Amino acid sequence: MYIKEEWLKSGFVNEPIPADIDIKAEILKLKEEKNAIIMAHFYQTNEIQDIADFVGDSLALAQEAAKTDADMIVLAGVNFMGETAKILSPDKLVLIPDLNAGCSLADSCPADEFEAFKKQYPDHKVLTYVNTTAEIKALSDVVVTSTNAKAIVDSFPADEKIIFGPDRNLGNYLNSISGRNMVLWDGACHVHEKFSVEKIIELKTDYPDALVLAHPECKQPLLVLADFVGSTAALLNFTKSSTATTFIVATESGILHQMELSNPQKTFIPAPPNDSTCACNDCEYMKLNSLEKLYNSLKFEWPTVEVDDELRKKAVLPINEMLRISAENKL
Ligand code: 13P
Ligand code: SF4
Repeated sequence: MYIKEEWLKSGFVNEPIPADIDIKAEILKLKEEKNAIIMAHFYQTNEIQDIADFVGDSLALAQEAAKTDADMIVLAGVNFMGETAKILSPDKLVLIPDLNAGCSLADSCPADEFEAFKKQYPDHKVLTYVNTTAEIKALSDVVVTSTNAKAIVDSFPADEKIIFGPDRNLGNYLNSISGRNMVLWDGACHVHEKFSVEKIIELKTDYPDALVLAHPECKQPLLVLADFVGSTAALLNFTKSSTATTFIVATESGILHQMELSNPQKTFIPAPPNDSTCACNDCEYMKLNSLEKLYNSLKFEWPTVEVDDELRKKAVLPINEMLRISAENKL
């Protein structure tokens, strides 16, 4: 956890939460008092999703951060989401309940190595997934999320040379559905790479009518087997429009909450990971956030997300380009 010196001096870093308070009521009160908006990603715990003002995928969180009139944004998600919100709304106070909420995919792409990689392809456009640091975004032409990636790739002329990073699985998938040959950075998400194709096939014998839904960060054999591939928002929408009643869901388990709320009569089965002894369907970074940390964050207005102004000015350009192409495509 990154702890600023003034937080330590003020003594509130280790402030215990009084046992007798109604934490949900206090969060709602603080939120009103401070004109704050609580934004949560679909991978957050059910209780955080339920108390949030806005729940969405990475694109929706960025779009909301760009337009909210709140004075304060509490981003219950991971660091790159808080950073994107700060880049888009530099004058607002952006808080993230736990600064240790990193992302293995963002970590798989260090800025100095990516810069050297980019230099090998000087005539290529650079498309990067939003799951990156601000430094990587500053090296990019356009940022994408899994909701708008296909539309953004398609917006380039067919013969445009493109580098895509950092997710090799999403990059491979985009190449296969767009007929491109983008040069791929070799990064991945540890949660999405752990789903077991063999166990999903076994599960299908018990639930022959179940449809397999997969996030494009999953490995190629799973994406080939899946009945539908899409971002968290696309997967959720699919469950609403499909006539199927049972779904095997290959992405982080937090998304099941909104699927169940929207479709109380349907059955959702988390896809089994390779290792049945681990809680591998949970992203441990996403799940670092808790109601207690959300409460402290609002109360003490920390930890704050900070982005150096020079860096911000560079990183905002490819994010704005993403928002522009998304709006053009009504995404
Ligand atoms: P979405 O943009 O589809 O919500 O994905 C975010 C993410 O971190 C997937 O692992
Ligand atoms: Fe990053 Fe994977 Fe967690 Fe998404 S699920 S935030 S890509 S580590």
